[in-house]
Amino acid sequence: MANTDEVAIERRRGDAGWWRQATVYQIYPRSFADANGDGVGDLEGILSRIDHLDQLGVDAVWLSPFYPSALADGGYDVDDYRDVSPELGDLATFDRLVTALHERGIKVIVDIVPNHSSNRHRLFQDALAAAPGSPERDRYLFRDGTGPRGAEPPSDWNSFFGGPAWTRVPDGQWYLHLFTAEQPDWNWHHPDVRADFLRTLRFWGDRGVDGFRVDVAHLLAKDLPAELPSWAELTRGTDPADPAPPRYPAGHHPLWDRDELDEIYAQWRAVFDSYSPPLTAVAEAWVPAERRVRYASKQNLGQAFTFDLLETPWDAGSFHQIIRDNLALAAKSGTSSTWVFSNHDVVRHATRFGLPKGMSGRRWLLEGADPALEDRVTGLRRARAATLLAMALPGSMYLYQGEELGLPEVGDIPADRRQDPTYFRSKGTDLGRDGARVALPWTSTGVSFGFGGCAPPLPQPTWFADFSVERQRDDPASTLSFYRHALRLRRELIQDETLEWLNLGPDLVGFRRGGGWTAVTNFGSRPRPLPAGDVLLLSGEPLDAPGLLPADTTAWLRRDSLRS
Ligand code: GLC
Ligand code: CA
Repeated sequence: MANTDEVAIERRRGDAGWWRQATVYQIYPRSFADANGDGVGDLEGILSRIDHLDQLGVDAVWLSPFYPSALADGGYDVDDYRDVSPELGDLATFDRLVTALHERGIKVIVDIVPNHSSNRHRLFQDALAAAPGSPERDRYLFRDGTGPRGAEPPSDWNSFFGGPAWTRVPDGQWYLHLFTAEQPDWNWHHPDVRADFLRTLRFWGDRGVDGFRVDVAHLLAKDLPAELPSWAELTRGTDPADPAPPRYPAGHHPLWDRDELDEIYAQWRAVFDSYSPPLTAVAEAWVPAERRVRYASKQNLGQAFTFDLLETPWDAGSFHQIIRDNLALAAKSGTSSTWVFSNHDVVRHATRFGLPKGMSGRRWLLEGADPALEDRVTGLRRARAATLLAMALPGSMYLYQGEELGLPEVGDIPADRRQDPTYFRSKGTDLGRDGARVALPWTSTGVSFGFGGCAPPLPQPTWFADFSVERQRDDPASTLSFYRHALRLRRELIQDETLEWLNLGPDLVGFRRGGGWTAVTNFGSRPRPLPAGDVLLLSGEPLDAPGLLPADTTAWLRRDSLRS
């Protein structure tokens, strides 16, 4: 058990609240490590890199889908919720992975995708084989078309990835898919669907999994009236830029964030609580902050992602307000907050924070990902400062594979190599998410930078060499060393969930945590005086002048008892 403290492991294992301030590391299995050299990351690859996770010092890993899938949406199109894709391994390998992670004191969270299955799922195939109006069709959302011979879709609804949300089957009916056509939406009013997911939760719980990340947790329940409203009606007032009053009151929208989800998740909660310690869950719910509380409540999923920092500019006021609001919201539902800067769906934060003011990562990609607009030095400096700030907060910290290397977004994936359906369905008006999903560089040389035996499908740029684990491992100034140091210290320092804001003036965000340590971030462009105390860790290079906090930098300090 290298690099871990056995006492701490025991404490985390038995503790029902382990997740409240955990550091969770997201693995996107297909691009993490490829053990058999076929270009696709696999479970054996994760096993071979357990030392990396251990030395990094994370409390849990979240595995993005590893289930059998045709990869219409990177594995979020699941053929069988209770199996492992043969490309990635098998259930026996999965069990070995769970055991090996648990031996290092690392919990395991799996991704559950309940809004839709894949079109290859057995029950969707059954639905296609059965007649319109049959009980088999009723497990999904089939409707007759409109217009002559029903040749027009039942409504003008759009899929979230662009293009229509309805696809026609050979007998003329249409089915609803809020994502790709290969991802038919389940009918959550059907008891079979509910029962089948409870079975899936128990299946993984019995295999030793510690929790679930719930994909688009706000969608599942739908209520399609006989007369389908238009897309304009459905989306009215849902964009902050649209001043029109929403057509539906909160909780009663036909497609999302319905109050009846509480009932579904209460059933899930009963399953979670039948394990000891209870299984955990975190909701991916794209809903207004005040609605997020429902998903995060104890009777419900227990925790929900805070995505507010995903598109927030590097600005003290915005960070302060987001943190303050989310801590208050978490307290309201008795949960702990979550902090996320990067995941498999967004432009990596080392790139985002280096773009010109007001330019989003998506827009930068779309406009050609001009390297001249990406200031990598500033981006990484701010990313490290932001991460160190969030690691000091009460709540759990979600990291995305590669951010511990300071990896930037890959902006120049050629069109013929792209995989993300958002790129294809939007007809290129959105370049999609592939740039955050390129296989990790483990070494600085070789055809796949140590990822596996052959070049992975999404091309790795030559500059990946500079970001490899090999290059950073023994360099005390590297981003990898910084993450390791920060996570070790975080474990030692965190004693409770209290926070007291410090009023330090413009451009500075600072707070004191229980046990007498302090975090301060300088969002400004000039050095600022540091509060009193011994510097425990800086997110960047120190200045020659002591007592000053450099621009774009976070410091953790402990009050020196002799001097105070
Ligand atoms: C979630 C996932 C995303 C996926 C979508 C549909 O937002 O994070 O990757 O495409 O759901 O399952
Ligand atoms: Ca492989």
